[in-house]
Amino acid sequence: MLVTSGGQFPSFHFLIILFIIVTTVRSGSARITSTFTRSEWPSTDIPLDNEAFAIPKGHNAPQQVHITQGDYDGKAVIITWVTTDEPGSSKVLYGTLEKKYDFSAEGNVTNYTFSNYSSGYIHHCLVHGLEPDTKYYYKIGDGGSSREFWFQTPPKIDPDTSYTFGIIGDLGQTYNSLSTLEHYMQSGAQTVLFVGDLSYADRYEFNDVGVRWDSWGRFVERSAAYQPWIWTAGNHEVEYMPNMGEVLPFKSYLHRYATPYMASQSSNPLWYAVRRASAHIIVLSSYSPFVKYTPQWKWLREELKRVDREKTPWLIVLMHAPMYSSNVAHYMEGESMRAVFESWFVHAKVDLIFAGHVHAYERSYRISNIHYNITNGDRYPIPDKSAPVYITVGDGGNQEGLAGRFVDPQPEYSSFREASYGHSTLEIKNRTHAFYHWNRNDDGKKVPTDSVVFYNQYWARNLQRRRLKRNHIRTIERGTATFC
Ligand SMILES: [Fe+2]
Repeated sequence: MLVTSGGQFPSFHFLIILFIIVTTVRSGSARITSTFTRSEWPSTDIPLDNEAFAIPKGHNAPQQVHITQGDYDGKAVIITWVTTDEPGSSKVLYGTLEKKYDFSAEGNVTNYTFSNYSSGYIHHCLVHGLEPDTKYYYKIGDGGSSREFWFQTPPKIDPDTSYTFGIIGDLGQTYNSLSTLEHYMQSGAQTVLFVGDLSYADRYEFNDVGVRWDSWGRFVERSAAYQPWIWTAGNHEVEYMPNMGEVLPFKSYLHRYATPYMASQSSNPLWYAVRRASAHIIVLSSYSPFVKYTPQWKWLREELKRVDREKTPWLIVLMHAPMYSSNVAHYMEGESMRAVFESWFVHAKVDLIFAGHVHAYERSYRISNIHYNITNGDRYPIPDKSAPVYITVGDGGNQEGLAGRFVDPQPEYSSFREASYGHSTLEIKNRTHAFYHWNRNDDGKKVPTDSVVFYNQYWARNLQRRRLKRNHIRTIERGTATFC
């Protein structure tokens, strides 16, 4: 049964109208290359002695605390932290009341070397069997140096559960990165979908590579210790650095950032899937083999069969290199993955594909190029209602700066693009609608720059679209928010 906003969700029209009134004015048909000029902040990394990287006090105090989803459906978290003086305990104490820890879980500890750097003791602890939609407090570390945090589990898997994701990419550790992170934390979003390129530690050499992974871990702890960050690997995680004797790809990343890959029957932590609230999130690795017959290709083919839009209506894919981007930087680097996977994404009616890599913001219309083969000449993307929207959010603010040059003129498939720092939020309201914002740093959270109401590709594509267009056409024509 198709659920309509006039039936099962009587208050939803009000929400839509409210959203239209308060969001930025934008026509749905015009392509926009924003001319916004950001205020100048240096794209240099914050010095190591800055309080943004403060080391917690006390002997062997846990630092770089972060959590991620620990299973397929959100009833588990993986808690990770680092101790530097000695291994110490890998135990997590947790419970639903503050400072009252009725449960415990035992983790494990690892470490690694990178060039002449030796890591601290990296603890990973799986906490499972959690109740849905419940606030948990947790405590890690020993004696007087122990530290306490909390997180909220997601609601159980349900097609009409509302849930808000943040999307951040290419963050790094500059003052712009800090601005992005602070703005994100004001947004009220509940989980970060991180689209790759974490620390940019590979911009350093020898011992400093590991040192900058450590500083980044302390930098993001303010958010990542309290809500899961769903990790995607980017090119800056590869760290193939033979000049320093390091040739094992993803060495630092894989030691430090765990993923629940086995829960989705993946054989590799770099590609996996999780279900959370009303969303099915697929994470791909742009820098691992993905052509036909490779493990990632075979896994994705099977994972798409496991997607159940009756339970998780929102199908979201994360990758690092965008399949569609009209920026001069990294132009067509995602083309090889597009050639392999785009037809699957269209046939699966994927809602949204988020990527990073390009240090700017861009959102596409629903377009596809799946009819093209190398001889038929049909090589230009065409409007396709079954296709995903492609969104590049590689604008977290790292030390490489912005990618300010777009292909001119703006291609027809590109809806909005701007070279500024920022982050996105996706407010899933129910099985048919989600409110989306891209928020440029310079404005603060109350001035979203690109706002869209997304219709679910499985549930709301046809009937819902016609109904809302009829009801609100005048408002839309006056120019409020894009409907997509
Ligand atoms: Fe990148």
